[in-house]
Amino acid sequence: MFRKFTLLFLLISFASCTSNSLTDRGLVTDKAMVVSAHPLASEVGAEILRQGGNAIDAAVAVQFALAVVYPDAGNIGGGGFLVLRQQDGSINALDYREKAPAAAHRDMYLNKTEKVVENLSFKGHLAAGVPGTVDGMVQANEMYGSMPWKDLVQPAIDLAANGFPLTKKEAAKLNEQREDFIKYSTVKPAFILRNKWQEGDSLRIPDLARVLQRVRDNGRAGFYAGETADLIADEMKRGGGIITKEDLAAYRSVWRAPLTAEANGYRIISMPPPSSGGIALIQLLTITEDYPLSDWGWNSARTAHFMIEAERRVYADRAKHLGDPDFYQVPVQGLLEQDYIKGRMADFTPKRATSSDAVSAGLPAPPESPNTTHYSIVDAQGNAVSVTTTLNSSFGSKVFVAGAGFLLNNEMDDFSVKPGYPNSYGLVGGEANAIAPGKRMLSSMTPTILEKNDSLFMVVGSMGGSTIITTVYQIILNVTVHGHTMQGAINAGRFHHQWKPNWVLSEWGALGAGTGIKLWLKGHKIVPRNGGIGRAAGILVLPNGKLEGGADPRGDDAAAGF
Ligand code: DON
Repeated sequence: MFRKFTLLFLLISFASCTSNSLTDRGLVTDKAMVVSAHPLASEVGAEILRQGGNAIDAAVAVQFALAVVYPDAGNIGGGGFLVLRQQDGSINALDYREKAPAAAHRDMYLNKTEKVVENLSFKGHLAAGVPGTVDGMVQANEMYGSMPWKDLVQPAIDLAANGFPLTKKEAAKLNEQREDFIKYSTVKPAFILRNKWQEGDSLRIPDLARVLQRVRDNGRAGFYAGETADLIADEMKRGGGIITKEDLAAYRSVWRAPLTAEANGYRIISMPPPSSGGIALIQLLTITEDYPLSDWGWNSARTAHFMIEAERRVYADRAKHLGDPDFYQVPVQGLLEQDYIKGRMADFTPKRATSSDAVSAGLPAPPESPNTTHYSIVDAQGNAVSVTTTLNSSFGSKVFVAGAGFLLNNEMDDFSVKPGYPNSYGLVGGEANAIAPGKRMLSSMTPTILEKNDSLFMVVGSMGGSTIITTVYQIILNVTVHGHTMQGAINAGRFHHQWKPNWVLSEWGALGAGTGIKLWLKGHKIVPRNGGIGRAAGILVLPNGKLEGGADPRGDDAAAGF
């Protein structure tokens, strides 16, 4: 049955990426650029850059603006990762990932017979980790900001207080989620109660504007203490959650050394654990440098088979070895050793798919569209920032903090709730990513910066849960190996494999029918992914020094700059 279905998909699949869409340029600017998931947020960031702000200033302003105009993933109730490369070449990474509350414990999502209680880590109050975003932005501003904090929060306050027009996609998403918002919030969230939002309707979120005013006036304390902390703690008590005021007061984001590696003539700068993104991306690009992908052709059967096999090995490592380095000794050096990485392909054969071992129990496609968001920024001085931020799935836990107008994340689902039990992205894990109080859940977010000849070359990242890593991998190869433009590399169709479950997700049209059938004959199971894989934002430094933005056509994404 499965094979018949796959064959049908392959037969009706067609290559929808025309060569134009791979070579068209996105917005080109002379000096500075922001690419984000929402035109209003990109414009907020570009305006900060026009005022002479640096890339970190713009990143802070964009983060808060996205929390208003893109509530499915923009957030103050979630967390994220930021990778920075300054104009002088110095680098740093900020981990503002959520943490498990102090009352969390390893088996908190299991019932008495040790079975996982469905949805408990995914929807509702128990799904939320302690938010990291506001602390992260405060830390980023204190360490690198050049503009006053207040000026960076104010644009988001204005948007929340005055209202902004909904895009067609956003209106549809709010309508889709209405029942869940009502079900999982203890007090009906005022702004959601409209039955049918339409494109162009103005959305005002006065409660959120007030929270942001407190953040503007009191920094960290505007969120982690006082009225906002009271509202969060009260919401938790009403809904049976476990985040306390002490958890909020104790939250701190962390500066970590970015991971770096050379592959195929580029220097990769990416996020270390608790994200798996940097390690997995470096492993993939290191494996790939020895193979002539450009001769084999973009998304040809040979190329795709090779990439799938590389991904299979890399995601197997992820499941076993990766977790929060503050709690678990992640063998980072070992995982990044050239010999180790290249040795992983010793049993690769161009002829056949390798077995992923026992395939996990049938995993349905994710129950709803996932969401996270990435934004890339380059300022007029040449500083670059790559940020991926999330509530985890679309609109997080669906829990609105009553009186505060923002949603809490459902990041607890990124832990391995039971060894070998797949999370909402089908990812499995074990000890390294088991729940513990104060621990950060493993992530796939891969905010990345590339250098070529010691100069800034690309700023890139994506949303997409487990598919983030392979999305970033494909975009980088599309530019560096296949010669696509930044925009073309992001337009291009994508596919994804993650060891378990043992199938290849593919966007419609990503693999032409010929490629698909050849892969199928080698033993790959190919499953169509409606709604796209990942949503990326990239900036490429062109040979003449100008910047090209790549904004993902899968969403409302937009580039802005000058
Ligand atoms: O940290 C992670 O890997 C996930 N929580 C990211 C979620 C995500 O990308 C969902 N959106 N597409």
